[in-house]
Amino acid sequence: MRKKVIAANWKMNKNRGEAEDYINKFLPLLGNINATDPEVIICPPFTSLQTLHDAVQGSYVKTGGQDIFWETSGAFTGEISAPMLTDCGCSYVIVGHSERRHILDESDYNINRKIKSSLAGALIPILCVGETLQERQNDLARQVVKDQMEKALLGIDITAGNLIVAYEPVWAIGTGVNASPDDAQDMIAFIREQLSQLYNPELASAIPILYGGSVKKANMHDFIIKADIDGALVGSASLDPREFSEIVRSVKNG
Ligand code: PGA
Repeated sequence: MRKKVIAANWKMNKNRGEAEDYINKFLPLLGNINATDPEVIICPPFTSLQTLHDAVQGSYVKTGGQDIFWETSGAFTGEISAPMLTDCGCSYVIVGHSERRHILDESDYNINRKIKSSLAGALIPILCVGETLQERQNDLARQVVKDQMEKALLGIDITAGNLIVAYEPVWAIGTGVNASPDDAQDMIAFIREQLSQLYNPELASAIPILYGGSVKKANMHDFIIKADIDGALVGSASLDPREFSEIVRSVKNG
């Protein structure tokens, strides 16, 4: 049985006070689903990581960074390394989010380096892949995702517990227009096939693969009932503690 995972990506939202306030509301709302299945991960901005980590103490909620640099220390202005993230209590880190790929020109080569540094630093990367609307319309979605997977994982040894993949079609992120659960299942099964070819079928069947893109409490159930979808990476809907707790509940009951 694969682990179910539900991860919040707060993006550039919430300062320390807001993060603390959120957790004070969110943990009681989790109630009897305060356990590791699903694994609940919150990725706040770097500046709120320590506050968030302190606030979730005594609960099962884990924390993660939204990005990482590939070196551990040195003259890299503005960057944050794996040891810095673990020092703030992180166990996860998002790598290759589409906003970084598209707004900040992040390359597949750098994403590969970031996956390597995450693993070397005992962080579990949440590798994001996904096609643009134009690529989908031109029937290139599978090729794009295959390419992103191959380049991100080039030369990297994976074990069942040290990778999460998130399929996030770019056109579904922050738009309110989610992929259909059937299309998401289709692509996620394809991603699992890629993992099987890159590694082996056992490993591929053990790696959690999430859907991301306009997930909310009203549609989470439709995704989680699909055979290959193991959870979600949630942006806007994770900013509200009640909405996010309902999403977690859907996954738990899914
Ligand atoms: P969204 O963002 O849920 O707001 O669409 C998802 C993401 O960027 O991970």
